[in-house]
Amino acid sequence: MNKLLLKLCLLLPIVAILSPLYVAWYYPKDEVHLDKAPINSSDQASLQRGAKYFVNYCLNCHSAQAMRYNRLTEIGLTEDEIKANLMFPAEKIGQTMQVGMKPADAKAWFGVAPPDLSVEERVRGADWLYTYLRGFYHDETRPSGWNNTLFPNVAMPHVLWELQGEQQLKITKTKGADGTETETRELTLVKQGTMTPGEYDTMVADLVNYLAFMAEPGKATRHNIGYMALLALFLLFLLAYALKKEFWKDVH
Ligand code: HEC
Repeated sequence: MNKLLLKLCLLLPIVAILSPLYVAWYYPKDEVHLDKAPINSSDQASLQRGAKYFVNYCLNCHSAQAMRYNRLTEIGLTEDEIKANLMFPAEKIGQTMQVGMKPADAKAWFGVAPPDLSVEERVRGADWLYTYLRGFYHDETRPSGWNNTLFPNVAMPHVLWELQGEQQLKITKTKGADGTETETRELTLVKQGTMTPGEYDTMVADLVNYLAFMAEPGKATRHNIGYMALLALFLLFLLAYALKKEFWKDVH
């Protein structure tokens, strides 16, 4: 009986290691390549810029019902700054970020109601959002005139096109030596907007940084508490060690 228990105990770590490997093998990753979002949750200037972009470019269609305006003080803005720059005069500071448009109208105009973006970063991930917002291209066949490499036939128009300019999708097919055809899809900027490609990437990173903050507002604080706790444990260790030395000093 004891031996069986021992064997089971040995088996456990093996199963624990092998099962995620099995899952990774059985469910291969999506073929779409995601660009790594260069975001930093402790960069308050970036978060503030992101909040401004979000209010100006996204809030007319998307709401953020879980986000109260006064929570923007967590990213270093004063209530007066929030009221002056990010809110409509009629709104109250304790109010959540409501959308300007009626959901029924949105449904009629786009065919799909734009989803609430409060926790979108937790749903899709920062890299997905960073790639998505840089993946719009001109497509005559779509009602909005735009399509997206990451979200084919998306109903959302490219609302940032004035900043980015116009991208086109180039599909090239190449035949390998073994006869298999590979397809490469490449976006090229055919008309530059008011921003350079580098500036646009930074702008999208700020926006994604802000979307991540909205999805997990307490994250920076939680990390800080974590580091403080580790530091406290380390100091406690030093203290305990010194105490142990003191106690055993005269024993030998
Ligand atoms: C003109 C209205 C409009 C504006 C402005 C707009 N969107 Fe959208 N958005 C939509 C619609 C409609 C959809 C639904 C697309 C679909 O399901 O095909 C959508 C979908 C999305 C999605 C995908 C949701 C999901 O997980 O399926 C994200 C992310 C998103 N929008 C982010 C943004 C951001 C960030 C901004 C601001 C830069 C923005 N949107 C501005 C209309 C808009």
